[in-house]
Amino acid sequence: MNEELLEIARSAGRRAALYVAGARPHGRVDVSSTKSSPTDVVTAIDEACEQLLRSLILRARPDDGFVGEEGDDILGSSDVEWIVDPIDGTVNFVYGLPFYAVSIAAAVNGEVEVGYVMNIANADEFSAIRGQGAWTHTDEGPIRLVAPPVDRLEHALVATGFSYVTATRTKQAAAVARMLPQVRDIRRTGSAALDLCGLAAGSYDAYVEQGLKPWDLAAGGLIAREAGIAVSGIDGIPGERLVMAAHPSVSREFFDLVNACGF
Ligand code: IPD
Ligand code: CA
Repeated sequence: MNEELLEIARSAGRRAALYVAGARPHGRVDVSSTKSSPTDVVTAIDEACEQLLRSLILRARPDDGFVGEEGDDILGSSDVEWIVDPIDGTVNFVYGLPFYAVSIAAAVNGEVEVGYVMNIANADEFSAIRGQGAWTHTDEGPIRLVAPPVDRLEHALVATGFSYVTATRTKQAAAVARMLPQVRDIRRTGSAALDLCGLAAGSYDAYVEQGLKPWDLAAGGLIAREAGIAVSGIDGIPGERLVMAAHPSVSREFFDLVNACGF
């Protein structure tokens, strides 16, 4: 069944990415409203993309549940729930920075089994099935993702992100400032899903963020894990309070550093 779920995710994700790329005007995209804070923006294209994904996915599997960032949750009657971010990296999308992605996960009985992420700006695709590995897709065919080890924590390139809520990002900035002298460098690209896929692909060595929602984490978290990354959080469970991830060669040390820095 997981192969079927991935095929649905891939087909819907490709259609949605084509829609978003075609709908994006040159220059800045208009913001239609804000959410958790004035900096947490949404565009009409985010909303239309979610509607498109919802109709494509539920047409293929009408009994499934659906949770998306921009719309009301649909409670299904099957074991499967889709967890979808139509555009992860909306601020980049608004400004035209090439890091915004469609992110689709399918959970079966509450466990994420399938993840699919496409960077809409350059059509890079990532996917995973739980227990079967993670893949990126090129014109020559799929390539299995195996995250590379890091020789020492001081050499780790760390991706992170900041909440839209001012009080939370003030604390995050202080924690990142404490971490910066102890690692190679910090990157903040603006899409949690792509940060986690980047970890799987070896573009970063570690990642830490607070405030992620299920649709930011579900697909990318599985892709990172299936590429061999240790993904953790409070009491070992990644979630809104904390997501930390790193190659196992430095994960224990990195998780200790995250705690010591006050995340
Ligand atoms: C955001 C991005 C960003 C992360 C924020 C998310 P959105 O998602 O993933 O990298 O730092 O926490 O909310 O709003 O662009 O879908
Ligand atoms: Ca989003």
